[in-house]
Amino acid sequence: MPTVKVALIGVGNCASAFVQGLTYYGKFTKDEECVGLRNPRLGGLTPRDIQVVAAFDVDERKVGKDLAEAIFAEPNNAPKVTDVPSTGVTVSKGPLLDGVGKSAQPFVHVSAKSDANAAEILKSTGVEVVVDLLPSGAAEASKWYAEQALAAGCAFVNATPNFIASDAAWAKRFESAGLPLVGDDLVDQAGSTALHKTLLKLLSMNGVKITETYQLDVGGGTESLDTLDRTREAKRTIKTQSVSSSLPYKTEVVAGSTDYVDFLQNNRDSYFWISGTYFCNAPFQIDLKFSTVDAPNAGSVLFDVVRAVKLALDKKMKGAVLPVCAYGFKRPPQMMSLETAESTFKTFVAEKA
Ligand SMILES: NC(=O)c1ccc[n+]([C@@H]2O[C@H](COP(=O)([O-])OP(=O)(O)OC[C@H]3O[C@@H](n4cnc5c(N)ncnc54)[C@H](O)[C@@H]3O)[C@@H](O)[C@H]2O)c1
Repeated sequence: MPTVKVALIGVGNCASAFVQGLTYYGKFTKDEECVGLRNPRLGGLTPRDIQVVAAFDVDERKVGKDLAEAIFAEPNNAPKVTDVPSTGVTVSKGPLLDGVGKSAQPFVHVSAKSDANAAEILKSTGVEVVVDLLPSGAAEASKWYAEQALAAGCAFVNATPNFIASDAAWAKRFESAGLPLVGDDLVDQAGSTALHKTLLKLLSMNGVKITETYQLDVGGGTESLDTLDRTREAKRTIKTQSVSSSLPYKTEVVAGSTDYVDFLQNNRDSYFWISGTYFCNAPFQIDLKFSTVDAPNAGSVLFDVVRAVKLALDKKMKGAVLPVCAYGFKRPPQMMSLETAESTFKTFVAEKA
């Protein structure tokens, strides 16, 4: 059986949903049973073919624990949907670097253990795909793990909004090393940015003139806290550019994370406002609230991206893999419409190694 050997960098809420998802979907043998997955099977691979073989964190409640236990440790607050049997993977301590921002400091208990040799662990456990799930403000730590992936000969998936796959210098380094790189900033499955873009596109296709629109998110995970502290502007730029790209003309667009509300836990509320005019200048307004749970929103896309990167490895692709970047990320090196991204991805998956 083929397997995709994965290392998780950061055992936070996204990692929790990912690992729980492997157990949850692992019990299904028929594709039609995999409700909630965009692609139960991708290039012949199912979620049962994904195996987490290494994990890194800095929190003392996670480091040294089996991954099955660490994913439920505080301050994670992603919902528990299944028990996860012991994985045999012990969470290793990575270097802190800029991993914990000022606002998150009271919530993250940094372990006093010494740092593991990450590149050595990646090599000895046979990791093929390193998945960066660090806090969005951890730009230096993300780069450090990209270096470890290069040193260990692994492909790199950057789920964070830090610029790695979209940075030509990093893409070149992975290309020279003969390794695939994808990113940046994972898209959500039930995604507020995609929903916003689709609404705007539908309206503008019909000749409607959008005059103003915004989309603001509030959430209660540590990631929302980190966003408030360190990456609000960067995330706002990425989301605003992505939403603006769905309109064939320039208009007033603001899209981005806005605040942390602790009692929301891992829930996220997105508020949309769209205002414009249509026939003979008739006005309209849309005022919409979209409520989701944050961590599971990354699961299906991560399953697809990890399997797609395995296909890229089999095809000996190197550098930024554009079809995977455009399909799975908000800030790919090259922006594509949702339809083009989907069809380009399907063609990539169907092409033989
Ligand atoms: N739906 C989604 O959840 C979604 C969608 C798109 C992008 N993302 C991105 O995924 C990333 C992870 O999100 P999350 O909600 O899981 O965040 P989180 O805060 O729950 O988890 C981050 C984890 O990284 C650990 N960490 C911090 N510094 C570290 C270091 N130096 N080395 C190793 N581990 C370290 C923390 O202890 C924590 O366990 C974020 O960058 C987020 O923007 C998430």
